[in-house]
Amino acid sequence: MARRKIIAGNWKMNMTPSQAVALVEELKPLVATEDADVVFCVPAIDIVPVVEACKGSNIEVGAENMYFEEKGAYTGEIAPDMLVDAGVKYVILGHSERREYFGETDKDINKKMHKAFEHGLTPIMCCGESLEQRELGVTMDFIRQQVKIGFSGITADQAKEAVIAYEPIWAIGTGKTATTEQAQEVCADIRACIAEIYDEATAAAIRIQYGGSVNPATAPDLFVQADIDGGLVGGASLKADFGKIVNWK
Ligand code: 13P
Repeated sequence: MARRKIIAGNWKMNMTPSQAVALVEELKPLVATEDADVVFCVPAIDIVPVVEACKGSNIEVGAENMYFEEKGAYTGEIAPDMLVDAGVKYVILGHSERREYFGETDKDINKKMHKAFEHGLTPIMCCGESLEQRELGVTMDFIRQQVKIGFSGITADQAKEAVIAYEPIWAIGTGKTATTEQAQEVCADIRACIAEIYDEATAAAIRIQYGGSVNPATAPDLFVQADIDGGLVGGASLKADFGKIVNWK
């Protein structure tokens, strides 16, 4: 069975609540499609108004991060059931910016993966190599470790529902999209890694996105690749371009 495409915007640290609602209103008609899942991953403070603004549309709302404890003395963190109660369906876990600037480790991300599934949230787990790792020829060694630790203890049935976003760090926010060959090669290797951890059925079901300077010009070639099931889009998700990416066909 063909995998359904999933095209998600990652707003990062952009948009105040009122700006967020205005952006949803602008994008809503542009991202209307029945051919793909469309997700807006937004800053925590924007979640409640964005969920409200997306009602009646095809847009699902995601968070950009989440903590792995249920509740308690963790000042500044957001608990899984807060997201669920607010109407969130997806959560980005382990974005390279969180790994780099906030010290998140593969083990932290694994704990968050477990929590997400426990609460019925779909994780979008990010992985990807730095330029140095690519030049040293260790891209797949590094990504395999991220995937293996990230999915440690996750069942095959859970993994089938998960989304992995392959985002080469050197392509994020640089305007330097990976070539379709580079992106397809790594996404295929990630799928092979999932087959090794689980089985072919799980590998065939899991959705793998590409992220890193996706724009309306690069999206079509990327999204037709056999192992690329959509995109995780940063900068271009904040403008009308996102509508063109969603309707890439
Ligand atoms: P850009 O699309 O701005 O390169 O960001 C990619 C990204 O990090 C999405 O999570």
